[in-house]
Order: sequence, then C-alpha cells, then structure tokens
Amino acid sequence: MARVAVVGVGAIGGVLAALLETTGLHEITLCTRRAVEPLTVKTPEGAVTVKARNLTDPKQAGAVDWVLVATKTYDAAGAGEWLRGLAKDGAVVAVVQNGVEHRERLAPYVEEERIVPVVIDCPVERQADGTVVQRGKVTMKVEEGPLGAEFKELFRGSKVEIELVGDFKTAAWRKLCTNAAGAINALTMKPAGVLHDEALGRLALEMVAECVAVGRAEGARLDDSVGQQVLDMYRGQPRDSVNSLLADRMAGRRMETDARNGVIVRLGEKHGIATPLNRMAVAVLEAGNRDEGSGVRGRP
Ligand SMILES: NC(=O)c1ccc[n+]([C@@H]2O[C@H](COP(=O)([O-])OP(=O)(O)OC[C@H]3O[C@@H](n4cnc5c(N)ncnc54)[C@H](OP(=O)(O)O)[C@@H]3O)[C@@H](O)[C@H]2O)c1
Repeated sequence: MARVAVVGVGAIGGVLAALLETTGLHEITLCTRRAVEPLTVKTPEGAVTVKARNLTDPKQAGAVDWVLVATKTYDAAGAGEWLRGLAKDGAVVAVVQNGVEHRERLAPYVEEERIVPVVIDCPVERQADGTVVQRGKVTMKVEEGPLGAEFKELFRGSKVEIELVGDFKTAAWRKLCTNAAGAINALTMKPAGVLHDEALGRLALEMVAECVAVGRAEGARLDDSVGQQVLDMYRGQPRDSVNSLLADRMAGRRMETDARNGVIVRLGEKHGIATPLNRMAVAVLEAGNRDEGSGVRGRP
C-alpha cells in the first residue's frame, strides 16, 4: 500500500486515479482546484468510481509516498504549490505530461533525483460534467531505474502497459515528433484526416525533420524514418480523430504550444538549428492562446 496523490485530475489524472483504484491497494488523494464529485472514469473495461480523499487547497496537503503530476505543462507552478506539503517527507514525483522537459519543469519545487519522467499514450477526454472517458488502452514509458521500477509496481494488477526504457530522452523526443506535427491539426482546425492532403503531409514531414534535428543535437537517437512513421500514424487514424491541441483550441482552452513546438524552437536556437516551421506554428497558435481583448481564446 502506498499513499498516492494525483495533482491535476483532468483526462490523464483521471485515468491514473482509475488505474490506481483498480489495483485496490492504495490510499488515493485527488488534488484539484475545485471539489470533485466522486470521480467516474469510463474505461473500455467498464466504469470505475475512484474512492479517494479530495483536497482543493495545497495548504491542506500532508506528506504522501508518491505524487503523480498530471496538470497541463503550463500549470507546473500550480503543481509545485502542492509539492510543498505532499513531498515534504521525500515523496517521489512522477511527471506524467507531454514534452521533453519533465524534470526542468518541476525542478524548482523538488530535488531532481526524486523526479520520475513519464510519457503516456492514451486517447482520453474529460467531459463537461467531470466524467473522464478513456477510449483506448493506456501505455506509459518510464525511465529505467529503481524509481521507474517502483512506479511500475504501483500499478501492478491494473490494465496498463508500462515499459521501463533505458533511453528515456529518445522516447520523449520520439513522442514530441508526433506532437510537433499535430500542430497542423490545430492550425487548420481540422482532425487527423487533413494530413492526407499532399501539401500538408509534406509540411508534417518537414516539421518533424526540424524536431529530429534538434532532438539529435540534444542526444536523442532518432533516425531519418521518423517523419514518415509519424505521417503514416496520422494517416492511419480515423479521419475524425482529434488530438489534444486541436481539442483545446476548439474549446477555447489554452494550448500546450510551448511544450509541443516552442521547445523545438528554443532548443534549436541553443544549437544553432533553424526551425522556421515550428516557429511559425508557435507564433500563430500563441496568438490563439491570447484573447486579444475579444474574450475568446483559441478560436481564429
Ligand atoms: N488527454 C490526452 O489524451 C493526453 C494524452 C497523452 C498525454 N497527455 C498529456 O498529459 C498532460 C495532462 O493533460 P490532460 O489532457 O489530462 O489535461 P486536462 O484534462 O486539462 O487536465 C489537467 C488538470 O489539471 C488541473 N490543474 C491545473 N492546475 C492545477 C493546480 N494548481 N492544482 C490542481 N489541479 C490543477 C486542471 O484543473 P481545472 O479543471 O481546474 O482546469 C485540470 O483538471 C498534458 O501534458 C497532456 O499533453 C494528454
């Protein structure tokens, strides 16, 4: 049994809480900004109701053994507030987010040795009534090592595939390559099918090539076929598949533009690598992240 807190109970936080619940082993705390009704997660195997304590104020947080951070990447400072109480006795902090800067984001709030970066793949969304709907299987990649192994152990008995990877950097950059091209969906406001267009397909390959070049400069092992793999993946999806960047833009929510494309531009600058296509995507989408006085964020 472990005391596990989930910070940020949206789509991914909900899935993580449901997985923990199905182990039947842990004492779960849900750390949210607003009180949650009993959390229900509709999984492909059936609905799971999470029996947990709910805290809405970081000042109420006492020490736990594990913290799973599942806020959006831009909410790291808010997650950090929770860590003061939750991690005061040495909790391990698993950062379950997109991007390649898991450690950097949380390092201001907890010792780096206690941070475990995790990449998750799972089609899931949170509905307006707070119900979380998981539409497919959950897979996670976690850095190999004692903490990675303990992380995997937390979920023993639940319906998740967790892979311990020796080269987490490559795993995170490989996912970033997929996410980088996903900006095209948010830019066009169209789901996966739009990538069947020849010109947009070429654009996707070129955006991924920028990501591959920067990732390699950072030490990730990415081969030349990644772009085509990413494009094939999008073209193999149902044409109406909506990625989370597009979903956020359509809903007028803030987008994770910086963690998905901005990081390619920033680290490209560090290595003297030009990234004009990702730079363009960031500039346009960031304008969507501002409401420019219209009161409407995200929509063109
Ligand atoms: N959804 C997917 O299919 C998917 C797949 C793979 C990876 N990811 C990645 O997983 C991460 C989480 O994404 P998501 O889709 O789960 O986002 P989400 O549904 O927006 O959930 C994020 C949650 O964090 C909460 N939050 C923000 N600041 C907080 C704070 N200070 N204290 C407590 N809670 C706070 C939000 O609360 P409010 O409700 O108050 O806003 C929201 O419930 C992202 O990095 C995303 O890119 C998502």
